[in-house]
Amino acid sequence: VHDDGWFRVTVTVPLEQAELAADLLWGHGTAGVEERPDGAAVALLGGFADGADATAAHRALQGAGLVAELQRLDEAAIASDLDAWRAHATPVEAGGIWLVPPWLAPPDGVDPTDVLVLDPGRAFGSGSHPTTRLVLDLLAARASTAGRVLDVGCGSGVLAVAAARWGAAEVVAIDIDPAAVAATAENAERNGVHDRVRASARPLASVLADEAPFDLVVANLLAPIVRELAPDLIAATAPHGQLIASGLLADRWAEATAALAPLEVAEVAEDDGWVAVVLAHEVAAAHR
Ligand SMILES: C[S@@+](CC[C@H](N)C(=O)[O-])C[C@H]1O[C@@H](n2cnc3c(N)ncnc32)[C@H](O)[C@@H]1O
Repeated sequence: VHDDGWFRVTVTVPLEQAELAADLLWGHGTAGVEERPDGAAVALLGGFADGADATAAHRALQGAGLVAELQRLDEAAIASDLDAWRAHATPVEAGGIWLVPPWLAPPDGVDPTDVLVLDPGRAFGSGSHPTTRLVLDLLAARASTAGRVLDVGCGSGVLAVAAARWGAAEVVAIDIDPAAVAATAENAERNGVHDRVRASARPLASVLADEAPFDLVVANLLAPIVRELAPDLIAATAPHGQLIASGLLADRWAEATAALAPLEVAEVAEDDGWVAVVLAHEVAAAHR
């Protein structure tokens, strides 16, 4: 499959296999999954910004014995997929903050200081995925005292913008996807924290070349990417700092944290088969 553009992997499964199929789509980097009920079955549509990821997801689904289809989308189909997602979007609460798309109102009674207006566009990070919510929960307890924060794989900018809202002095947000960098900058502006969020497509290694290590590093990436970036993630974490790694599958997270040694695991949080892990250079014995 040619790599440019936008791709859709559709898999139709009996209801009881929907979670497995959705996990395979998320596990291969889909930007979002739409569910269309179809009698006793459900069609899952996964959108991909990367043809290689879409192809890998398609193969994995077929390898699991499921009937899947891979399509390259034209502009009209992209617009209709995005619109379909927009029509189903709802406000999401995580870490005590409400993530609300710009075209919806926050739920009644919610304090405006507890609302982030967030348009993910084509980037990952509406807050509807457990991996994002797990990090927000862990971040909520740390951001106000965090000082300088690095968000690796910022997607929509949800974590970077939340960290700034919660009081981080400065947030460096990076993503290899230019659409994510643009979404992060727009969402920072929308929430009045653009003076403290610097979004760019700089590779992690180049950020490290001219920035001091960070007080808090958040990395909601998939396990293979965490492993690939492990040496730089370790170097990015200040001696007194913490790294929050997410996007790890519950039965396999230890493979990723092993690659992050000498960082040690301080805390593990789990939601719906996904795990986020807090790591530090030296975890006090009492917290092990
Ligand atoms: C699962 S999304 C996380 C988005 C957002 N931070 C959240 O928590 O919802 C992972 C993001 O990492 C980006 N990414 C993948 N590999 C990367 C790399 N080597 N360096 C920086 N970003 C990367 C992807 O483009 C994607 O936007």
